Amino acid sequence: MKYLLLFTLGFLLAACSKGPDSPRGFSLPEGDVERGEQVFLQYDCLSCHRLQGYDAVVKDRELEKPIVLGGTVTKVKTYAELLTSVINPSHRLASGYERDQVTGDDGESLMRNYNDVMTVSELIDLVAFLEAHYDLDPYAQSHYQMYYP
Ligand code: HEC
Repeated sequence: MKYLLLFTLGFLLAACSKGPDSPRGFSLPEGDVERGEQVFLQYDCLSCHRLQGYDAVVKDRELEKPIVLGGTVTKVKTYAELLTSVINPSHRLASGYERDQVTGDDGESLMRNYNDVMTVSELIDLVAFLEAHYDLDPYAQSHYQMYYP
């Protein structure tokens, strides 16, 4: 039974794979923007980032020159890029910055990795919140008929 499930999952993933930049590729289930805002604040993303409308919230800055999130002046153009920049920050570094401003001595992104602390539900909501601040290429939402949050 377990193997059948794995097989089916693998098949479904393979069937959808049109490359990470494809707007048709894959999306997380629909998130809750307000809860996503809470996640954004709770994980202190603003200690290294700036986001329009959230200047007043910042207490401690970790980066001298914070990385601006959102808008159109960014490399993040697709849903996949946005998601990837959260779960694998070093995969593609934000453009328009000096390298030593965004990476440490090891060449990796200065951004923290949240994969072991953030729940999937939090990630889903966070991405829904961030998405509203980006001007992303249109994409088709994946259907989750069997998804019960
Ligand atoms: C310790 C500092 C730090 C923290 C905390 C941090 N980031 Fe980042 N983040 C960075 C740096 C540096 C970059 C630029 C390098 C890169 O692209 O990985 C970045 C890049 C990004 C990008 C891509 C920006 C673009 O336009 O290319 C997104 C999206 C992002 N971060 C979201 C978040 C979210 C959401 C959180 C909170 C859960 C967060 N970051 C917390 C340092 C941080």
